[in-house]
Amino acid sequence: MSLFDSLVVSSLPLVPKGVVKRFASRYVAGETLEHAIAVVRELAAEGAMSTLDVLGESVTRREQTEETRDEYLRALDAIHASGLPANVSIKPTAVGLSIDRALARANCAAICAKAREKGTFVRLDMEDSPFTDATIDLALDLQAEFGDVGTVIQAYLRRSLKDLDRLGAARMNLRICKGIYVEPRRLAYKDRQVVIENYGDLVAKHLSAGCYTGIATHDEACVQKALAVIDRLKLPRESYEFQMLLGVDPLLRRLLLESGHRLRVYVPYGRDWYQYSVRRLKENPSISRHVIRGMLGMGPSAS
Ligand code: FDA
Repeated sequence: MSLFDSLVVSSLPLVPKGVVKRFASRYVAGETLEHAIAVVRELAAEGAMSTLDVLGESVTRREQTEETRDEYLRALDAIHASGLPANVSIKPTAVGLSIDRALARANCAAICAKAREKGTFVRLDMEDSPFTDATIDLALDLQAEFGDVGTVIQAYLRRSLKDLDRLGAARMNLRICKGIYVEPRRLAYKDRQVVIENYGDLVAKHLSAGCYTGIATHDEACVQKALAVIDRLKLPRESYEFQMLLGVDPLLRRLLLESGHRLRVYVPYGRDWYQYSVRRLKENPSISRHVIRGMLGMGPSAS
């Protein structure tokens, strides 16, 4: 990212929420479950599966975590009633991991019990490094009790190849992504090329171990590495899926679907859209520039 882009991105917190919302709407399905199901239906018509994420993270009150849990229970009912190809992804801090591990476990257990009843898979998203161990432990614990539970591994973390030993032994369904949080160099690779190499190694290791893998990226270099592994191992389509975020690179999404790969779109919804949307805008300096121009009342820029 250029110095100018970094400046633009670091100015985002100064932008009024109303302006951010206008530009962020492409990344979020809407504020209600009905909005989310409508987007899942459109994606299904394209041939894509979805995973629903109820927005809300870094919560401080127990009642907030219970509201989020209840919204997941409603989402699981709605997915089942619609017959659409979707599952759910949960941010552990949204259900209490930063307040009390037992609270997060209880909320997740309620969601996993409902998911098992409805025949739906549950994934724990991976947040920043203070939560890595707790999230892996929670995912393994829930998988042991409920079965169809997975989590996420981040290619920027130095520890991730090692974590795969334990998760591969448990045959856990893993999403592999680069990682989005700001981490110290002590813990995370900082060089883009090294992260891509590690991404390829992680995908190869988990697929070679015979474990279902969610290949979550919009980076053609990572997609190419994954495709090479899939080809080398002659894997059937049912043993992996590509995953992409709502609003990001619909052309790549179409190309992967047209090539016959399974693909799932991450569909966030809810009233707490702000933190998630700002993370997405930070990944996209050209949109961030539009946002700043929007705040300053300037017309659209050329880029
Ligand atoms: P990269 O950032 O290099 O992007 C590649 C290309 O994609 C860019 O050049 C651009 O064209 C396009 N692009 C990427 N982001 C864009 C945006 N916001 N707007 C427009 N274009 C964009 N992280 C995490 O830490 N924990 C998690 O649980 C998850 N979960 C998750 C689920 C799914 C389905 C996906 C796809 C991603 C995540 N992530 C995540 C986020 C992930 O770690 C990573 O930050 C983003 O996917 C961006 O990395 P890429 O691999 O896409 O490469």
